Amino acid sequence: MIGTLITIHGLLRWVTAALALLVIARYAWGWLGKQSFTATDRQLGSAFAVAITVQFVLGVVNLVLLAINGAFRPAVHIEHAFYGLLATGLAHSLPALKRLPDASRFRTGLLLTLVSLLLVIFSVTRLRGSFFFGML
Ligand code: HEM
Ligand code: HEM
Repeated sequence: MIGTLITIHGLLRWVTAALALLVIARYAWGWLGKQSFTATDRQLGSAFAVAITVQFVLGVVNLVLLAINGAFRPAVHIEHAFYGLLATGLAHSLPALKRLPDASRFRTGLLLTLVSLLLVIFSVTRLRGSFFFGML
């Protein structure tokens, strides 16, 4: 059970990272092309926030199950959870930009998403040695 959940949590990192990359590419395009911020742009940011929140919730469940099984390693697991919390918080902050002019909304949303993605990559690299573990 816990093995399956951790595998799912591990596989979903690709969904999270792919959505973050889409947000970054779309917002960069919108910012540099001086476009209007549309409902689709907002929904794309929300899709990334939903994906990372699912990761957070699965991560908490993983932590609890590891603790029950006596496999909780505080230093490693709390560090991973802490970076995950920061990354999730950044993804959740995008709606707070709604009062900004479109160009600033694209640019700041892009920066928050980029930092969130970098935190996720760093966190998984610390945990497994590489974000691409299991592929090579
Ligand atoms: C927010 C984005 C997150 C991503 C992309 C992510 C990604 C990953 C990945 C790739 C693994 C390794 C899976 C495997 O070995 O198959 C993992 C393991 C784990 N994650 Fe996360 N994680 C995130 C957030 C969190 C959070 C917030 C928590 C806890 C609150 C958490 C708890 C765990 C635990 C307990 C493990 C198992 C560690 C072990 O096997 O010793 N994760 N995570
Ligand atoms: C440092 C951590 C976090 C920060 C700073 C943060 C920040 C925020 C902010 C500012 C909003 C309001 C967005 C808006 O104006 O619509 C929000 C919404 C929300 N957050 Fe977080 N968040 C954090 C972590 C989490 C976590 C870990 C969860 C759940 C596991 C969570 C669940 C939610 C939900 C369900 C909403 C409502 C979404 C909606 O309005 O549609 N947050 N968060």
